[in-house]
Amino acid sequence: MSRIVIVTGGGTGIGRAVAARFAEAGDSVVITGRRQAVLDKTVADLGGDIRAITCDHTDPEQLAALAAALPERVDVLVNNAGGNTDIGTETPSGLAGLGRAWLANLDTNLISAALTTEAIGERLGSGGSVIHIGSIAADKGNGFYGAAKAGLASWNIGLARELGTRDITSNVISPGYISETEFFGDVMTEQRRAALIEATFVKRVGIPADIAGAAWFLASPDARYVTGQTLNVNGGAWSSR
Ligand SMILES: NC(=O)c1ccc[n+]([C@@H]2O[C@H](COP(=O)([O-])OP(=O)(O)OC[C@H]3O[C@@H](n4cnc5c(N)ncnc54)[C@H](OP(=O)(O)O)[C@@H]3O)[C@@H](O)[C@H]2O)c1
Repeated sequence: MSRIVIVTGGGTGIGRAVAARFAEAGDSVVITGRRQAVLDKTVADLGGDIRAITCDHTDPEQLAALAAALPERVDVLVNNAGGNTDIGTETPSGLAGLGRAWLANLDTNLISAALTTEAIGERLGSGGSVIHIGSIAADKGNGFYGAAKAGLASWNIGLARELGTRDITSNVISPGYISETEFFGDVMTEQRRAALIEATFVKRVGIPADIAGAAWFLASPDARYVTGQTLNVNGGAWSSR
């Protein structure tokens, strides 16, 4: 039986690769994002059983509409939508500006995942998996964005404890630098990219398929005893014991 897989922010980058990985295996995938045209192109490009639903995951009303459009049972929820909302914006000035910059990153990376899980979580059945996309920035320290992703990893632990009683796992994948995404917009320089590659043990950039492979494992029968964890996928750029 094919699974029902929801990939938030599935129109581009990591989310698109995750959607492709599950769809190629015959799963039924729903991708979301705020831009209908981007989602439509991804559906057309990838083929397979993929459906697009536009949704801003920071908006409770749109999340309720998304939940209403989904099947009764969901097997895998990948909370991938996110990004560093500071990129391409002015350095905030004044307390009000600072507050807005904090809230933007928290909304986009943490509240979005929490609200989405609340809206859809009841549909997850026994054997289900929730996967959140965190970031190496949570460990290295990177302003509001890193703090938001650290919050995501912390929240995941309590969520995993709660969902465990229903035989549902919940884990974070924490990527290092991943190319072929819209994440950095036009701010990535050749010099910075070279430094990020040099910081890895394997001396290459990460690609979205590296993260899709980890998501595939965490949603597989082989990972049913893995929960409440953060899995670093960064080529060795940040190590853990
Ligand atoms: N690339 C990296 O080096 C890297 C490293 C560590 C972690 N990450 C994390 O990986 C995840 C995927 O990012 P990516 O690298 O693949 O970059 P990306 O290509 O910019 O993908 C982010 C996706 O999320 C969607 N999105 C953002 N905010 C949303 C919202 N409020 N509601 C619905 N969809 C939203 C975007 O689509 P719309 O704009 O159309 O909504 C976009 O498709 C993010 O959580 C990011 O923080 C990336």
